[in-house]
Formats: sequence, structure tokens, C-alpha cells
Amino acid sequence: MKPGATDVRGDRFSDARDDSPCLLACAKGEGAPSLTGDSVMMLRAFLPSDAEHLAWVYRDAVRGLGVQAYTPAQVEVWALYPDDLAEFGGRLARGVTLVAEVAGRVVAFGQLEPDDHLAFLYCAAAHARRGVASAIYAALEAQAVSRGVAAIHTEASRISRPFFEKQGYTLVEIERVDRFGVEFERFRMRKGLGGGR
Ligand SMILES: CC(C)(COP(=O)(O)OP(=O)(O)OC[C@H]1O[C@@H](n2cnc3c(N)ncnc32)[C@H](O)[C@@H]1OP(=O)(O)O)[C@@H](O)C(=O)NCCC(=O)NCCS
Repeated sequence: MKPGATDVRGDRFSDARDDSPCLLACAKGEGAPSLTGDSVMMLRAFLPSDAEHLAWVYRDAVRGLGVQAYTPAQVEVWALYPDDLAEFGGRLARGVTLVAEVAGRVVAFGQLEPDDHLAFLYCAAAHARRGVASAIYAALEAQAVSRGVAAIHTEASRISRPFFEKQGYTLVEIERVDRFGVEFERFRMRKGLGGGR
């Protein structure tokens, strides 16, 4: 590992800004994500040069998966979020942001920011339901635990609510938020991590 990089299992992962391609590799097999064929998924830390790819992943997830539970108007407003690429990249540079690659292509990402908040989790539609987000989530939760967090919370969509329930989250509150005059329902959810500060 090059200087400055930190193993995903370490407690300084957010400091990793190295371009090492693989900090955690998961091959298909027992205990690993279920990926098609011989595909191998790798998790690594976010790099500033990822912003454009992650904007694509974000829009693809929203348009390809969000459409199952939201109206076309809601989907289009939701998909606007990364349009200001500098702002989007700046947000992703905060906290712990992990990027998943399959066959060398960026397919998903997630972010812990601040330490007790799951801020982003998006998977490109063609790679959904193969355990990619679960692998990202497990690494982010491990980071939260290593930082002494007692409970982690998130704002889930109608799509991600069952995902978070499977991870052990419970519903705290249903919220209605307005984006450009379009109303969205989302779900404040929480998971106790045991111990913590
Ligand atoms: C939520 C999301 C990140 C999940 O990504 P993923 O890689 O497909 O998730 P996984 O394959 O790890 O799913 C693990 C489990 O979560 C549950 N799950 C995931 N997506 C689900 C869906 N659309 N409907 C119901 N359950 C779902 C299932 O139990 C799944 O296990 P299974 O496939 O064996 O049944 C993805 O659907 C997405 O990007 N959604 C749009 C964006 C979004 O809502 N992000 C959340 C932040 S607001």
C-alpha cells in the first residue's frame, strides 16, 4: 500500500486519498457478495476524479431503480442533484466515501458523513440486487463502529427502506420534503451499533 493510504479495516480510512485500485476485494464465494459469473468487486476510497462517474451512477440508480416507487416528476427532480458537479464532488470528498468497481467500472458508492450518518448509497441499475450496496454498507458500518458511534441513522427512500430494514434499521419517522416544488416521502431510520460514545 502506498504512503497515505489506509486499509479499509483501519480507523483512518477517510484519510485515504491514494489511487491504489483495491483496498478491499470481494470475489464470489462464501461470505462474499453474489456477483454474476466471475465478476470481482473492489471497494476503494473516493478520489476527486470519481465525481463525474458517481454522478452517472447516481442518475442511473435514480432513473433505473427510483422509477419503481416514484413518479416521473419525482425521479427527474431527484436526478438533478449531481448537476452541480463541483458541489457534488465537494460533498463526496467529506467523511468516508467508498466506491465499488466491478470489472474496472464504477458501479456504486456510499458515504458515511458525519460518523453517525449514512449520507449516500447508490447502485447502478444493471448491478442491483447482487450485494454491491451490502458490501459498501458493511464497510461503512465497520468504520462507524471503529469510531465509537453508538447509533447510525439515515434518510431512506421507498427503494432503500427494505435494504436498510434488512441491515437492522428501524423506522424513526416518515418525513415529507420539498425539492423544487415536488414533494417526496422519505424515512428517517436508525440502527443501534452497541457500545459507542
Ligand atoms: C438501495 C440500493 C443502494 C440497494 O443497492 P443493491 O446493490 O441493489 O443492494 P443489495 O443487492 O446489497 O441488496 C441487499 C438486500 O436489500 C434488499 N433490497 C435491495 N434493493 C431492494 C429493492 N429495490 N426492493 C426490495 N428490497 C431490496 C433485499 O433484501 C436485498 O437482498 P436480496 O437481493 O437477496 O433480496 C439501490 O437500490 C439504489 O441505488 N436505489 C436507488 C437510490 C436510493 O434509494 N438510495 C438510498 C439513499 S436515499
